[in-house]
Amino acid sequence: MSLKYFRTLCIITFFVIVSHGYAKAASTDLTIVQGSNKYVITENGFRALHLDSIVVLDPVYKKHKRYAGYWLSDILALAGVGHPDPNTVWTFTALDGYKASVAVADVVQSGAKAFVAIEDLDKEEGWEKIPQGKEWISPGPYYLVWQTALEDVTPSVKLPWPYQMVEISIGKSDEAQQKLFPDSNDKSESVTRGYKVFTQNCMACHSINLQGGVVGPELNVPKNILEYEDRKFLKEFIGSPSSFRARSKMPGFNGTLSDQELDDVLDYLAWMGKHKI
Ligand code: HEC
Repeated sequence: MSLKYFRTLCIITFFVIVSHGYAKAASTDLTIVQGSNKYVITENGFRALHLDSIVVLDPVYKKHKRYAGYWLSDILALAGVGHPDPNTVWTFTALDGYKASVAVADVVQSGAKAFVAIEDLDKEEGWEKIPQGKEWISPGPYYLVWQTALEDVTPSVKLPWPYQMVEISIGKSDEAQQKLFPDSNDKSESVTRGYKVFTQNCMACHSINLQGGVVGPELNVPKNILEYEDRKFLKEFIGSPSSFRARSKMPGFNGTLSDQELDDVLDYLAWMGKHKI
């Protein structure tokens, strides 16, 4: 081989590797979104997880398929999403923007386990293509499949099998959302702001209409907190619980929340008194 020819070959190879590597890096990221938090798992990030393989009766291919991939529960744990919350909904977004959702309560009820397939083990290379309109497409980079206990029994809930998945978002289910912040045309702006303050600062510990944490007391049912506590006291208490009660388990919000935000959250709490479950 002449040196010139060798050099050209090297350059071509270099570009093929670079362009291929580049395209791959962009398309193999899986994004996990929860509220305003985003966690991007790159190809490297997946190395921290246990690669498993499963056999499923695949409704997309209408036959048994073998896949290598990762359990969704492991992926969510890596992204810092705790135990699946039945008051949430998982929404899977595909490369083309398609979204499929499933209520986590339904997943729990079905007993099925979600598995994120990254490789078709029935094919030597690549994926067996799926017809989509006039095209044949590959279900990668990520294809969500389900392992059910009894594969021949159709599960009572319909589970989505989204392919070409690139994003998973975890959101509040409509039902929970309706209890926490019902659709109603009597909302003022401060109520809307206060709802946001509440979900971001208080909900981990307190529930409203039984939606939320259980570290602190429920604040709306059967009695709304503003029906039995004075607003002025509450504002001071939320700002600094320990100046009322030694060993209070509630952190103080003076400094973290502005005076306006404290008023907003109280407006939201008061408004919820008119929207009890
Ligand atoms: C880390 C958990 C935690 C967070 C976060 C938290 N609280 Fe509390 N809260 C508690 C606990 C526990 C109590 C029970 C009373 C105590 O410990 O003093 C309480 C009590 C209360 C009470 C009842 C006061 C009374 O009369 O007894 C109100 C109202 C309240 N919290 C509002 C809020 C608001 C509004 C926020 C957010 C800005 C918030 N809390 C954030 C844990 C928390």
